[in-house]
Amino acid sequence: MAAPSEYILALGTNVGDRQHNLSRAREGIARFATIVAESAILETWPILIRAQGRFLNQAVRISTTLEPQALLAEVLSLEKQIGRQKRIKNGPREIDIDIIWSSLGRVNLPNLVIPHPYNRAREWVRQFMRELKADAIDETGVSWSAIQGRSVMNVHDFTKKKAAGEKITVVTCYDFAFSRLIARTSVDAILVGDSLGNVIQGQPNTIPVSVDDMVYHGKIVRRGAPQAFIVVDMPFMSYQTSVEEALRNAGRIVKETGADAVKLEGGANIAAQVRALTESGIPVMGHLGLTPQSLLAFGGYKVQGKTTAAAQKLIDDAKLLEQSGAFAIVLEMIPAALTAQVSQSLSIPTIGIGAGEKADGQVLVLNDLLGLDPDFAPKFVRKYADLSSSVLSALENYAADVRTGKFPGEKESFS
Ligand code: KIV
Repeated sequence: MAAPSEYILALGTNVGDRQHNLSRAREGIARFATIVAESAILETWPILIRAQGRFLNQAVRISTTLEPQALLAEVLSLEKQIGRQKRIKNGPREIDIDIIWSSLGRVNLPNLVIPHPYNRAREWVRQFMRELKADAIDETGVSWSAIQGRSVMNVHDFTKKKAAGEKITVVTCYDFAFSRLIARTSVDAILVGDSLGNVIQGQPNTIPVSVDDMVYHGKIVRRGAPQAFIVVDMPFMSYQTSVEEALRNAGRIVKETGADAVKLEGGANIAAQVRALTESGIPVMGHLGLTPQSLLAFGGYKVQGKTTAAAQKLIDDAKLLEQSGAFAIVLEMIPAALTAQVSQSLSIPTIGIGAGEKADGQVLVLNDLLGLDPDFAPKFVRKYADLSSSVLSALENYAADVRTGKFPGEKESFS
């Protein structure tokens, strides 16, 4: 007989008598496995489709001789017995049982991936893992006990982090594939930047980007990172013209993308918009310094705030944005000493890009930090990977294999 393996199963229910559904699930599991430990029961908000009832979630650590595929078959059959109906994906369900971890290590079958790919993106799963198996290694190679109960950010955490002296990490993202990866990291927040005009659309600058573009990219980023704190940029001329226009466009962006906040470029000229948005319940991140939507007026990508007058104007603008309700301010391409002054004069955090180490947090364009463009290397970017080289060599290897008949091989063919 095979030696028993351990698994952790996550249970969720938001239809019918939820406590009863959980106890039926535990009873059913006990018929094909030994339950070694049970977590607390938590009530959680739905993630992907928010307009549905709250879930009760629990996890159980089990021991069984079943192989992963056989365990999956038992789990699916138990879901049916408890009365799980076929409805829309991620919609309401009587019971959902996910295999989220196994002592067998990584399992990669066509219909089953363990550890569950969304483990780190779901705070309650992180809590269950810490409760039931804190020494287990997660899919990124980190033990769950080392993931310090990181809770999902909300708008107030930005100021709390600054007060606690904790640096804030932000990265831009524009699509599902990368947001899914970011959601598995400890990065604090995602910015769906209008830099997508440059890096996704191949435009010379951000000026042509539309609200429709931001909504499209905001939506797909949210799909990959259901619980991340996501800020979506308001593009050029979607808020500058009037408070009404700003409210209409920001409302659309937040409603249609599920963003947690919007970002606007400017200081005194948009303070009324910032106030109106925050008073309407839409959190606003400000953006000062080299604000790319004003590129035509700046006459190019140049360091800002270099004269005494420009530095003072930037400090005044930052204070005004804070008074108008902004919860954080991006400072782009300004002297490091000015960043220090601005950061000291605010209780909300500054998030720097090309603004030196004294900002309360940093943001980088994802494509830049991953080294996706071999020809783009501004002074303020550090490339943490050289993906352009990896992509080029993968593509050349693929083309060569096809040409020489090495791909597909037996392994990649059906019998
Ligand atoms: O659009 C963007 O990506 C940005 C960051 C550079 C801060 O605004």
